[in-house]
Amino acid sequence: MKFFVDTAEVSDIRALAEAGLVDGVTTNPSLIAKSGRNMAEVIREICSITPGPVSAEVTATDFDTMLAEGRYLRDLAPNVAVKVPLTEAGLRTCRALANEGTPVNVTLCFSAAQALLAAKAGAAFISPFVGRLDDISTDGMTLIADIVQIYRNYPQLKTEVLVASVRHPMHLVQAAKLGAHVATLPPGVIRQLLKHPLTDSGLAAFLADWKKTGQSIL
Ligand code: E4P
Repeated sequence: MKFFVDTAEVSDIRALAEAGLVDGVTTNPSLIAKSGRNMAEVIREICSITPGPVSAEVTATDFDTMLAEGRYLRDLAPNVAVKVPLTEAGLRTCRALANEGTPVNVTLCFSAAQALLAAKAGAAFISPFVGRLDDISTDGMTLIADIVQIYRNYPQLKTEVLVASVRHPMHLVQAAKLGAHVATLPPGVIRQLLKHPLTDSGLAAFLADWKKTGQSIL
């Protein structure tokens, strides 16, 4: 399973990349706003940290402007994946960019039917939002299971399932068990994955015993 980092904070991406945990990055307009930085500048910098796909999202809602924005974003760096919303204009843009060889991440997916349309439009990635479904008392993981099953039924569909709106470690574990290709994780969730109380107590005990020996390795 590939791990993308869901942030526009360069320091987090750099640290996680050094640990080998970054296969790509996803951003959205809210994450760019949170970073307080110029979009083109931050996307170029992120693209220089990871060779994997870096999703940069269009903000227009009509086809012509969306396509122009998508081409602009694609030209920022060779590893940009253009992110478009799951609307009719978004799917037209997806098909046009895919025909030009640009990978497209279709975002704001909340149903299996939408995911099927995105695959037909040539999306490289479909981003179903599990956390936002859970927020409205609908099981986000059922959607992942449905999309994975549907895509498996049609091997000619090459779209990867990119689990988004991940809020906690169990989202990741469940998505991995279902065979989703990618999960995009906020840095905080990646750090939560590390944590286990038995790791902490075990390490404390080893260090206490080591201290008693009076030795040092170096
Ligand atoms: C990433 O592609 C999505 O934009 C992001 O995961 C949404 O997460 P949120 O629902 O926590 O805002």
